[in-house]
Amino acid sequence: MSQDKPWGGRFSEPTDAFVERFTASVGFDQRMYAADIRGSIAHATMLEKAGILTGVEREQIVTGLQAIQAEIEAGNFEWSVKLEDVHMNIESRLTANIGAVGKKLHTGRSRNDQVATDIRLFVRDEIDGLCALVRKLQIGILGLAEQEANTIMPGFTHLQTAQPVTFGHHLMAWFEMLQRDHARLLDCRKRVNICPLGAAALAGTTYPIDRHLTAELLGFDKPTENSLDSVSDRDFAIELCAAASLVMMHLSRFSEELVLWTSSQFDFIDLPDRFCTGSSIMPQKKNPDVPELVRGKSGRVTGHLVSLLMLMKGQPLAYNKDNQEDKEPLFDTLDTVRDCLKAYADMVPAIRAKRENMRNAALKGYATATDLADYLVKKGMPFRDAHEVVGKSVAFGIQQGRDLSELTLEELKQFSNTIEQDIYAVLSLEGSVATRDHIGGTAPAQVMAAITRARKLLED
Ligand code: ARG
Repeated sequence: MSQDKPWGGRFSEPTDAFVERFTASVGFDQRMYAADIRGSIAHATMLEKAGILTGVEREQIVTGLQAIQAEIEAGNFEWSVKLEDVHMNIESRLTANIGAVGKKLHTGRSRNDQVATDIRLFVRDEIDGLCALVRKLQIGILGLAEQEANTIMPGFTHLQTAQPVTFGHHLMAWFEMLQRDHARLLDCRKRVNICPLGAAALAGTTYPIDRHLTAELLGFDKPTENSLDSVSDRDFAIELCAAASLVMMHLSRFSEELVLWTSSQFDFIDLPDRFCTGSSIMPQKKNPDVPELVRGKSGRVTGHLVSLLMLMKGQPLAYNKDNQEDKEPLFDTLDTVRDCLKAYADMVPAIRAKRENMRNAALKGYATATDLADYLVKKGMPFRDAHEVVGKSVAFGIQQGRDLSELTLEELKQFSNTIEQDIYAVLSLEGSVATRDHIGGTAPAQVMAAITRARKLLED
């Protein structure tokens, strides 16, 4: 082997030092070391079954790889940029440690199918971790929604007071978004969990390999179908970044509401001090930094999704070195989503609702105007006429500086004689939410039923 490179045979001068650094990925792909070793052990096991390695050789290779893993985990492994990536670092070390037999490990495979296998193994564990965090956050939301099933707040459209809702109902909307996120991650996992090992460089290999065996040893559902596609496909990483971008978009919307609600203008909730920071100049400040940062980080995750799409769109089949650029956006996406979910899973159960403030806000802004219209319709008035009557009542209320429920019966009757004393039950916040009593509605009874269904869903 010339110039210390496993591929140095046909080269007549050493790699330029800058090019060595420029083309190396070991700085960031070393975190896939466990997947790389696991893949190599499965490969060696298959090579023995296929009669390509002897039992003794396989044993030496496996023991050698395990020793390297221990070395890495103890922090004693020296990664070398000269050896470019995680794969060649580990393989070179193996040969240095166990001798010539180490050189047999790479029989019937290429770094192209090796890296594709490693990323899939790595990403599969990460998806499982993300799913567990989504679940933890959902459980936190359910706990808070149950506590706040009867808490009334204004519901908004256009960020203008629209109709009263319960805070529990609002929280359950967040639960639903996360439920879809969880399903998307699991769906992506199905396409991740297919084994490209055996595709070799691009065309397959001349050795009598058993791709079903390696797939099975690595816990994959099956081998991939086409060798060219196997080494070049990064769809699964793009899908994962898309699913992650949606998680982040949801957390960002969630954050936006928390930021608004902790402001003194809304003052609907309190976040625990441990999730906030102060200002170096304004002593009164308590800033919702965690939600703000999560909102900010959503942009970078979406950026990574776009990076990966751009990375792939011009590549001819099969493997191209461009693909090495898949890792940093992918890893940063996973790290960011994991941290944000973790922060939210810890923070959400500690949100304290300021129920009085929420209620007072719902009393302002004519939130029960639609209920008055529905009341008139139920007494026989066409909806459009009712809309007109209520519009006039609201205009009168605004001019008087009073809510609809604060107008006297006489005042209300100026707009329609159909209005009777029973209107006050309708104009009450409790009456308004309780009557939206069907699946998906804001009535406290419906919120509790939704929570029960959700809990059941999480058990299955
Ligand atoms: N470090 C490379 C990557 O991340 C591994 C595969 C390299 N293959 C090759 N033929 N240069 O994609």
